[in-house]
Amino acid sequence: MRVLVTGGAGFIGSNLVDALVARGDEVVVLDDLSTGKRENLAAAGDRARLIVGSVADAEAVEAAAAGCELIYHEAAIASVQRTVETPLDTNLVNLGGTLNVLEAARAVGARRVVFAGSAATYGDNPDMPLRETATPRPLSPYAIEKLASEQYVRVWAELFGLETVTLRYFNVFGPRQDPGSPYSGVISIFVDRLLRGQVPTIFGDGGQTRDFVYVADVVQANLLAGTQPGISGRVFNIAGGGQTSLLELYGHLRDLIGGPERPAFAEARAGDIRHSLADIAAARAALGYAPSVPVAVGLSRLVDAVRASR
Ligand SMILES: NC(=O)c1ccc[n+]([C@@H]2O[C@H](COP(=O)([O-])OP(=O)(O)OC[C@H]3O[C@@H](n4cnc5c(N)ncnc54)[C@H](O)[C@@H]3O)[C@@H](O)[C@H]2O)c1
Repeated sequence: MRVLVTGGAGFIGSNLVDALVARGDEVVVLDDLSTGKRENLAAAGDRARLIVGSVADAEAVEAAAAGCELIYHEAAIASVQRTVETPLDTNLVNLGGTLNVLEAARAVGARRVVFAGSAATYGDNPDMPLRETATPRPLSPYAIEKLASEQYVRVWAELFGLETVTLRYFNVFGPRQDPGSPYSGVISIFVDRLLRGQVPTIFGDGGQTRDFVYVADVVQANLLAGTQPGISGRVFNIAGGGQTSLLELYGHLRDLIGGPERPAFAEARAGDIRHSLADIAAARAALGYAPSVPVAVGLSRLVDAVRASR
């Protein structure tokens, strides 16, 4: 089958592309390479064709979608900070891009769209573990753009009979995550610092927890969401289903890499939530999703991959 992956040169997208190619799909990637990299598609070889273009460009999206049965919409400006600084620009990509993908899917007669949503939509909702039915309390333009996108995605299933699914990713980690930005995934930053012999900084006391999920499990969820019947219009949490504090995380990485007994600490960042934990029962029941890589194992694989790439 021919599959479009927007944002397919990025961290999650390129790991998904590799899995689609491995199962024999022909993959088209639409990516503007703003944070994605060509080399992330090297492993996929000829079976993944990169089109450099923006999801904010409706014509480019429709051209990329031609002949595709399934569309994974991973492209987004994933920096919360950027959406705070330039919301008009990021809205065009993060919300406008989603609408362009949905319209392109209709125009080319695609069967299904799977959208990369985010746990950010829950914001500071304290009802842990978070169920998909919890009230969204977005705290940033990023979260609003993801939430509004989800609504378009759901309504396009109702209005036009397009099959659509949203996967709300929690804290994803794994190879190809870029540690470049201070707002990037905390794990990629800690690994990078420790491997360079530097001391990572924890904002706050380190007691804050996150529900980390290894990228291979996110890929698994996407493969299931692309094929499972009877799930159109639904939203699923995709997470590991467990809580890890930043201090625990630091301890695991110190065991793997070495480093000082204690990380550095800085003042907690405004808007940071204290705890995050997903209820993944819905994804287990409806998708057959079963996270298979515990955090400690994922960390070890990640450290091996980063060491090998240096
Ligand atoms: N990493 C996480 O923990 C996490 C959590 C929740 C949701 N998400 C979502 O998952 C998706 C993938 O995120 P990621 O972590 O792989 O980030 P990433 O930045 O590595 O991937 C995003 C990709 O989209 C591309 N892109 C950005 N703007 C574009 C545009 N206008 N047109 C075409 N391509 C564009 C980038 O070049 C990049 O390749 C995003 O939608 C993100 O919001 C990620």
